[in-house]
Amino acid sequence: MAKRRIKTLLSAITGAMDGGAQRERERQTEAARLRFVEGRATPRHVAIIMDGNGRWATQRRLPRAVGHRAGVEALRRVVRLCDTYHVPMLSVYAFSTENWGRPQEEVDALMSLMWETIRSDVDRLHREGVRLRHIGRLEGLAPDVREAIKWMMDLTRENTKLELNVCFNYGARAELVDAMRAIAAEGIPPSQITEETISHRLYTHDLPDPDLIIRTGGEMRLSNYLLWQAAYSEYYSTATLWPDFDEDDFIAALDAYASRKRRFGKTDAQIAAEREAQAKSANGVGEPDSATAESAESAATTGQEPQPAIKN
Ligand code: FPP
Repeated sequence: MAKRRIKTLLSAITGAMDGGAQRERERQTEAARLRFVEGRATPRHVAIIMDGNGRWATQRRLPRAVGHRAGVEALRRVVRLCDTYHVPMLSVYAFSTENWGRPQEEVDALMSLMWETIRSDVDRLHREGVRLRHIGRLEGLAPDVREAIKWMMDLTRENTKLELNVCFNYGARAELVDAMRAIAAEGIPPSQITEETISHRLYTHDLPDPDLIIRTGGEMRLSNYLLWQAAYSEYYSTATLWPDFDEDDFIAALDAYASRKRRFGKTDAQIAAEREAQAKSANGVGEPDSATAESAESAATTGQEPQPAIKN
């Protein structure tokens, strides 16, 4: 009897402690949310490896294609979150060059989903000011998918609210092979090949490198995604399966990014001095005002150029 009472008491205490920890986590998430709503220390380019659709479906005894469909819903959600939290560029890994090796039924489902999603979403995304780009090889894709891709890119070319890059039939090694072929075809002598020579011939030649790469589904690898561009990206992995990825997960990723120190191979002291100089020159020679100083401070953490404070 006494044993049972002790057990009940212990479980009540543990429950209260768990509740406390839960409330603390919620408080921290809310504090982070408010920081990002104000646009502080936000990555300018987030890239996502959307992993876990298959497992999500299998856990529900559903076909894998249903998981991919739920993945499109998660993508729509994250596009909205980019707007809320001032992330101006999002790249997503929707189909890799290696995914051709999946069962034909699944490949067909992913191809249809790409086509259907373009047809169903592009008009709305265009009205919302989203620019859509395809990143990857067009060769190998069916003519209707290629046409849909071309249409979405042409239609949304002038939009600036959010840049959404859909990596489809993309592989980083294939991209590097294509860049090397272009360099060879142009007859550029080896002594004149620099990092810029290569960057300018990648599919992403006109895009900034990703600041933050998120991978869902718990794995810790790049899987042939943006290998060149990821040289100095911050990496964040979450166990959340892609179809379940929600606002709290997104904030947790932004929060992790905001706490990282990006030094690009330099020392802390050098980075701090550079940021201070930038803040001063952005503000004339005198003392930085408080908004510029705050921007410089968050830039020192994330390694971005100081940006003007965003006022809502
Ligand atoms: C990896 O999960 C995901 C993919 C190979 C496809 C990602 C595609 C989407 C999220 C749909 C968005 C697509 C369009 C058309 C924009 P997995 O299947 O490898 O999952 P698993 O590791 O659990 O098996």
